[in-house]
Amino acid sequence: MSEHIGLLRLPREVRFGFGARRAVAGLAAGFGERVAFVVDPFLAETDDFRAVLAETHDRGCRTEVIADVPPELPVGAVQDAAEALRPFGADVIVGYGGGSALDAAKLVSLLLAHPAPLDRYYGENAVPGPVTPLVAVPTTAGTGSEVTPVAVVSDPSRAVKVGISSPHLIPAIAVVDPELTMSAPAGVTAYAGIDAFVHAVESFTAAPLADVGAERLPVFVGRDVLTEPLSLEAARLIHRSLPVAIANPGDRRAREEMSRASLLAGMAFGSAGTHISHAVQYPIGALTHTPHGLGTGMLLPYVLQAFLPAIPDRLAVLGEALGLDAAGDERARAQATVDAIADLCARIGLPTSLAELGVSHADREQVVTLSLQARRLVDIAPQPVDEQLMGAIFDAAFAGDRSRLSDVIVDMRP
Ligand SMILES: NC(=O)c1ccc[n+]([C@@H]2O[C@H](COP(=O)([O-])OP(=O)(O)OC[C@H]3O[C@@H](n4cnc5c(N)ncnc54)[C@H](O)[C@@H]3O)[C@@H](O)[C@H]2O)c1
Ligand SMILES: [Fe+2]
Repeated sequence: MSEHIGLLRLPREVRFGFGARRAVAGLAAGFGERVAFVVDPFLAETDDFRAVLAETHDRGCRTEVIADVPPELPVGAVQDAAEALRPFGADVIVGYGGGSALDAAKLVSLLLAHPAPLDRYYGENAVPGPVTPLVAVPTTAGTGSEVTPVAVVSDPSRAVKVGISSPHLIPAIAVVDPELTMSAPAGVTAYAGIDAFVHAVESFTAAPLADVGAERLPVFVGRDVLTEPLSLEAARLIHRSLPVAIANPGDRRAREEMSRASLLAGMAFGSAGTHISHAVQYPIGALTHTPHGLGTGMLLPYVLQAFLPAIPDRLAVLGEALGLDAAGDERARAQATVDAIADLCARIGLPTSLAELGVSHADREQVVTLSLQARRLVDIAPQPVDEQLMGAIFDAAFAGDRSRLSDVIVDMRP
């Protein structure tokens, strides 16, 4: 197999940089005169959003605003939002907000084009065709949802949040303006920012894309020569700018680097995928009601420690991108990388154990079982993951002790 194969699925246009928001109205109007906004409730009241709305009216467009979808995205609320919007006959949806609002916008654009209920489309590649075109405008530097093929929803009949993944959900246009993130409070900046870092690192350490000539490919295919440079650059930028953006929210350079990095990480993981920190976060998030990035960030050092014996080469290269010494023994460099990542998590104030997060040891079996059921994530882990390895990751993360993972048996992929 050639190592030099790749796959990227992306929006048809990506605008990035301070001032990019001024293009939103014109880009939306390019799809037609009926423009629907799905907006985060807090951001709907901001001057920046009102300016975008006014500019859209100035172009002769009719608008409708949906700003009441709760952040957990309960499936019923998403379906209600789509029904409320249906008579309007939107030509385009503009999603405006953090990952929650962008995911809500993706799901509304799906339901305006295909029949409810939403559970028909759970899982991978179940969306039958194109959705209502979406212009995605993120206000956090984190999820990368503006360029990814996935949206996550809460369904009361399921124990954990469910993903809907399909290339049809990739927004038509992404407009990423770091100015819109400047008002994000420290907690949102930290949790969204570390999630972007996990996207970068997990896409870089995923199993490799196997066969670019296959007729049908899954939504998430593993790392490759096109995603790797995006992942590395994103990790480099976040490592140096996330602590600055948290400590000094007005630092424009740090905000710009965080927005750019979360966009690059989204481009990378939107094709490559993420793996075990995400697989474990879903049940942990459901149990503890803690933010997505808090969980993925807290788990990442344990997940990397578990995989270190299988991928010392990749972790050593990642360390170079983070500015660590490029000379010396590969395994020692890999360990230094994991230590540096644990240090970053500590510096931004993440808890260091599952116990601290509010998980009880009695939850072990449920967490391990549900994590293993996240096949799209488990299947692209750096090495096969069974109950024993998942249990070992839980135990180390529960105790806050990475040294417990040093004797994990390595079962290399063929
Ligand atoms: N689709 C994807 O590819 C993908 C990837 C990762 C995570 N997610 C999902 O994204 C969600 C998390 O998204 P998030 O971290 O962006 O947070 P979020 O959208 O849930 O927003 C968190 C809080 O921050 C506020 N906020 C957002 N931007 C702000 C700003 N500029 N100024 C002030 N306040 C602001 C919001 O009002 C909200 O109260 C999770 O539900 C997760 O499941 C999706
Ligand atoms: Fe994530």
